[in-house]
Amino acid sequence: MDSFFAGRFRHYLTGVERLDHEHRKILELMHDVENNPTQTPAELATKVTKIAELFRQHLVEEEQLMIEIDYPYVVYHAEQHAEILRMVTDYENTPANFTVRYATRRLSDHFLTHIDHYDFQFANYVKRALVSAAD
Ligand SMILES: [Fe+2]
Ligand SMILES: [Fe+2]
Repeated sequence: MDSFFAGRFRHYLTGVERLDHEHRKILELMHDVENNPTQTPAELATKVTKIAELFRQHLVEEEQLMIEIDYPYVVYHAEQHAEILRMVTDYENTPANFTVRYATRRLSDHFLTHIDHYDFQFANYVKRALVSAAD
């Protein structure tokens, strides 16, 4: 098993490699921002920008995959992504000081809940679609 997902994030491995790979990149960077107290404001600002970029890429790619495999709940799931994107925009506007760590925690908590509720449902559909494509 992926060692990152064996730790704090062990309940968030969906089993769809493409999703897990992208989730990991985002969660790893947010985890670093939350838990490394020695970062300068400039370093934090760079990481916040990178996290926002990763979110935007990931959400688009996940929705593209949904369209590719005719996922029936794409509209509903995309509405949840739109909410995340609003939070990401707020997050980017967090001043680069100690509050960045709290803002990161808020966003990562929301993202983990999203994975738990919505991405797992999608991942199960992807896995079934892959099985029936192999038949
Ligand atoms: Fe996702
Ligand atoms: Fe999602």
